[in-house]
Amino acid sequence: MTTRREFLTSCALAGAALTTGGKTVAHAAAQQRESESTGRPLVVSTWSFGQAANAAAWNLLAPGGAALDAVEQGARVPESDPANRTVGLGGLPDRDGHVTLDACVMDHAGRAGSVCFLEGYEHPVSVARKVMEETPHVMLAGAGAAQFAAEQGFTTRDLLTDDARNAWNEWRKEARYEPTANAERHDTLGILAVDQDAHLAGACTTSGMAFKLHGRVGDSPIIGAALYVDGEIGCATATGHGEFVMRTLGSFLVVELMRQGRSPQDACTEAVERIVRSLGDDPGETQVGYLALDPRGRIGAFAVQPGFQYAVRDGARDEIIDAASAF
Ligand code: GLY
Repeated sequence: MTTRREFLTSCALAGAALTTGGKTVAHAAAQQRESESTGRPLVVSTWSFGQAANAAAWNLLAPGGAALDAVEQGARVPESDPANRTVGLGGLPDRDGHVTLDACVMDHAGRAGSVCFLEGYEHPVSVARKVMEETPHVMLAGAGAAQFAAEQGFTTRDLLTDDARNAWNEWRKEARYEPTANAERHDTLGILAVDQDAHLAGACTTSGMAFKLHGRVGDSPIIGAALYVDGEIGCATATGHGEFVMRTLGSFLVVELMRQGRSPQDACTEAVERIVRSLGDDPGETQVGYLALDPRGRIGAFAVQPGFQYAVRDGARDEIIDAASAF
């Protein structure tokens, strides 16, 4: 009998639509495309709203701009979108009504910056870049991150929109203190780019789980969890339930698997499989998606459950693709 691991591996290699034990690996054509090299420059982002982020990034990449600038500018798009309830302005608050943000950046040289539990600043990704470039540190948290942002000239803003406050008030009426992952259609923005010099960079930004406990920090600001970049091997980002990504250091795992010779697609599949093993046959509402890119422009994507989409922009494409999944 074929084991789940053999099944997933064979799917990743063959790009074929197969079914076993009632679980289907779908969108095989997209999976096949993911393994193809499309050249440079190229930008990929998690979820359909990543298409707008890609557009901003592409404005820099197309004329020869740097991947790091591109991913920062891309991440700033959903951070400023009040209609996006999972990133930046308009993000759903924590249990106590605070919008707390997590973000990070990393470049091809292995430089990294991160902020977590940041309140009152619209662009945590840019504060994270300042941490990387202006301090000897990698991560600043909470009040210290806010103090640093002020010192760097960022201006404060109330990030709790009326829409998000209303959603929070509705949630409180139910008195159901269960954080939710916002993973139905939207979650963290992870954005990865390779520029025409084959330099890689990535960024990640989120308001985290809706109605989380005050003080909760997810995977998004953790280098190695929701983002990892190795300039020679490739880069990876994660979206979904951060706790599962943090426990497995998923993006680092994806890149290390690529270092061992796996394709971006196969590496994402294996990293999801590590999580799936802990879920048994019923994933419940658990959703994690990985997205990976190598310097040749090869893309990989895989998720625990159907529904994870990613957006691709290069010289030939501007599209949203359904990722394959384990269940
Ligand atoms: N992936 C976002 C979070 O769990 O906070």
